[in-house]
Amino acid sequence: MKICCIGAGYVGGPTMAMIALKCPDIQVAVVDMNAARIAAWNSDQLPIYEPGLDDVVRQARGRNLHFTTDVAGNIKSADIIFVAVNTPTKTYGVGAGRAADLRYIESVARTIAQHATGTKIIVEKSTIPVKTADTIRSILASNGTGLKAQVLSNPEFLAEGTAVQDLLAPDRVLIGGERTPEGDQAVAALAGVYARWVPRERIITTNLWSSELSKLVANAFLAQRISSINSISALCEATGADVDEVANAIGKDSRIGPKFLKASVGFGGSCFQKDILNLTYLCESFGLPEVAAYWGSVVGINDWQKKRFAARIVKELFNTVADKKIAILGFAFKKDTNDTRETAAINVCRDLLAEHASVCVYDPKVPADEILADTLGKGHTNSRLTVAQDAYAACAGAHAIAIVTEWDEFKKLDYARIYAGMPKPAFLFDGRNILDLAALRKIGFKASGIGKPAE
Ligand code: UDX
Ligand code: UDX
Repeated sequence: MKICCIGAGYVGGPTMAMIALKCPDIQVAVVDMNAARIAAWNSDQLPIYEPGLDDVVRQARGRNLHFTTDVAGNIKSADIIFVAVNTPTKTYGVGAGRAADLRYIESVARTIAQHATGTKIIVEKSTIPVKTADTIRSILASNGTGLKAQVLSNPEFLAEGTAVQDLLAPDRVLIGGERTPEGDQAVAALAGVYARWVPRERIITTNLWSSELSKLVANAFLAQRISSINSISALCEATGADVDEVANAIGKDSRIGPKFLKASVGFGGSCFQKDILNLTYLCESFGLPEVAAYWGSVVGINDWQKKRFAARIVKELFNTVADKKIAILGFAFKKDTNDTRETAAINVCRDLLAEHASVCVYDPKVPADEILADTLGKGHTNSRLTVAQDAYAACAGAHAIAIVTEWDEFKKLDYARIYAGMPKPAFLFDGRNILDLAALRKIGFKASGIGKPAE
């Protein structure tokens, strides 16, 4: 059997590496039109940082895992073709700002139609609006080469930072297919690949539309929990309750459960906001404005939370941060990744720059040029925004420190040493609640966290 995956990104790369590792008899080719990205996958410096991934890639690469720009050749020879290209939010035209931009999906479908012959299984890995499989099917049906294609939906549920573990032991694998004998056969073939290492009872099969929709709904539910606890974090700050104590107390109820109740400066990442906006757009398209408004508020609270965090910094620093140095610790949207898509750090930095603060950012994995480009826009500069090589340099002389990403190394810093090098009063805002506020206050910091009672 041969597998080809179009799109060597955060999803395509790790997922294919795991399939190749677990199925040594299957040849797996990951193709991408971005030659630099493919070159990076073939080097010692992989294009994405993900704990444990280097090891998986090292074991399989060159054996049965190949990264190449030969899209046409691998489409021709593959039995199963995964589509894992990006599906950003549309920035133009109808549905701008909410609908998914499907131009890459369509262009890949056309490329497949152009080169594929015989019998193929096409697998949607990218997150897409319900009914996209219809579009792909129509394009494939018009290729005139006698191609017999079954389109399956197999959404990816891995989270960045824990991708390898999530792929090794997934809670479930979801495969949606057409409920016809050919559809069932294709679903069984793909299920057979995952069954090499995933217990059968964790492989769920559904119809195509249930599978496509489940990905959006899973992300909407996860994000909704974060917005729910974040909305309560504001109430905690106002009342003297402690949001971590509230989360712990409610999470012990087995009907609620403890996960995804960590109050934060706001969720980021390539999926949550995009998928909810996509969901609300779908609801409106199907004449369900009330449902759209309900889910839209999850994104609304998240935007508010990011603004609220920056506004609190300004307020506590005596309502002005003009010409004050603010250290931003962490820029990635969560720890253990170098991904900055939709990271709350961008909003926090922009809001502080708008108040004329001097913002100095440090992140262990995000390169300086990316921090500058994400915050200011490519090619733009602002002398108030700088990037430090380590946390101590970022904090030296700062009036305030804001923890925006929960990197483990921020828990181990020598805060007494940092405090000594800051003008007084020295402020610390923990946007992730990873530090011991009482200990920081003992050092002398004016320390506050999300959803924590004031001193
Ligand atoms: C994935 C999913 O596909 C997306 O729908 C989901 O919501 C988030 O995760 P991701 O792997 O994170 O996307 O995207 P990205 O890292 O941008 O990788 C996509 C790759 O596809 C890029 O390397 C891009 O060069 C490639 N691509 C895109 C092609 O090879 N051909 C195209 O036509 C378009
Ligand atoms: C998410 C889904 O978890 C995954 O199943 C899907 O395939 C892709 O989208 P990802 O965005 O990579 O994964 O990371 P996730 O761990 O879900 O975190 C998303 C954001 O929520 C991060 O900014 C994180 O810091 C934040 N978060 C998460 C919180 O603020 N509080 C929490 O309790 C959990």
